[in-house]
Amino acid sequence: MTGHCATVAPGHWLVRATRPVAYELRNVDDVFDARGDALLGFGRRQHGRRFVVVDECVHRHHGARIRDYFRAHGVQARILVFPGGEAAKTVDAWQDVLRALDAFPVHRRDEPVIAIGGGVLTDVVGFVASSYRRGVPHIKVPTTLMGYVDAAVGIKTGVNFNGYKNRLGSFEPPRAVLLDRSLLVTLAPRHLRNGLCEIVKLAVVCDAGLFELLERRGAASLAAAFQDAPGREILDRAIAGMLAELAPNLHEDELARKVDFGHTFSYGLETLHGDRLLHGEAVLLDILASTLMARARGLLPAADAERVLALVQRLGLAPEARLLDPERMWQALADRIEHRNGRQRVPLPTAIGQCTFVDDITRAEIRAATDALQQRTPAHEPIAET
Ligand SMILES: NC(=O)c1ccc[n+]([C@@H]2O[C@H](COP(=O)([O-])OP(=O)(O)OC[C@H]3O[C@@H](n4cnc5c(N)ncnc54)[C@H](O)[C@@H]3O)[C@@H](O)[C@H]2O)c1
Repeated sequence: MTGHCATVAPGHWLVRATRPVAYELRNVDDVFDARGDALLGFGRRQHGRRFVVVDECVHRHHGARIRDYFRAHGVQARILVFPGGEAAKTVDAWQDVLRALDAFPVHRRDEPVIAIGGGVLTDVVGFVASSYRRGVPHIKVPTTLMGYVDAAVGIKTGVNFNGYKNRLGSFEPPRAVLLDRSLLVTLAPRHLRNGLCEIVKLAVVCDAGLFELLERRGAASLAAAFQDAPGREILDRAIAGMLAELAPNLHEDELARKVDFGHTFSYGLETLHGDRLLHGEAVLLDILASTLMARARGLLPAADAERVLALVQRLGLAPEARLLDPERMWQALADRIEHRNGRQRVPLPTAIGQCTFVDDITRAEIRAATDALQQRTPAHEPIAET
């Protein structure tokens, strides 16, 4: 941290400070193996304590090993089991975790909070870490594909509030993100597909090579829960691509972000359909609607639009186009305009692996795209050249 204060004039001061952000992401084999020490990095071991929040499903599968891990290292651990699912991403849940943390105090600097779970858990616990005593360190261990390639990779935390997703939150870098893909084995197929939607997002607007890899090996890797060699390549490439986009703009000073592809209209759909539509599923509907808008504008060649639709079908992602709601999508766009400081800044693909930003999407355009998508699914027909 560097900072200084200058006197501008008598009775007028100017403070300037910068704080570097540094955190590491690392592949770890079998993170709960007591012979490994990755989980205890970045903090005090001797007589150490750790406040560990574990997703309930993960706890069911690995709870005993997690307890044994800390016991074997002589570290006193308070394990808090946290329910998964979007319904748990509330102000109440955030306060409940804070109360439990307060009842098991940890050192402010050298006993990092450990978050083991999906995107819901790491978002809530990250927000806990950023707000407790104005910030205590934390470590993330993503256990869903959504967490692995997206939610745990960046520095955003949050809870849903006032009927909106992630309305309260913070930018809070973790100390480390430990990536153990073997944890994905127990994930329900729907949740694997859910995370894959975010990989597709990245491939469509940022990485043509990843897109090709998904075309060739994606379906088989999905069936293998990404435990095969191509799965390793897909995951590593997705994370590297995500970091390349996030790292130069961690605090979103630049509001035109490629990674916001699929994250404009999806907010309204996700809120509208609650449990019926997972985050990635809503993102996929947005990706497809945006792709058709780009095609209709002549921004995206028909062959490329066709490849996006074909990939989604080949991966078996089966978007529920009947859940598209043009009016709700229009409202979501209005809300995104506030979020993006007065402009739409909607990313639309211009080729596989590339995109541009537009500010003039109309209600009629959204309706036309949703109509077109609803007509095309579930049967897959090629888009005509126009
Ligand atoms: N912070 C960010 O930048 C960011 C980015 C993308 C998504 N998100 C957020 O992530 C959330 C969605 O995350 P998610 O899809 O991981 O949901 P989730 O955390 O609810 O997990 C999904 C389900 O999987 C279960 N589960 C977790 N790990 C498991 C495992 N290893 N085996 C079996 N079951 C397991 C959970 O209990 C839950 O039922 C959304 O709230 C979204 O807003 C945040």
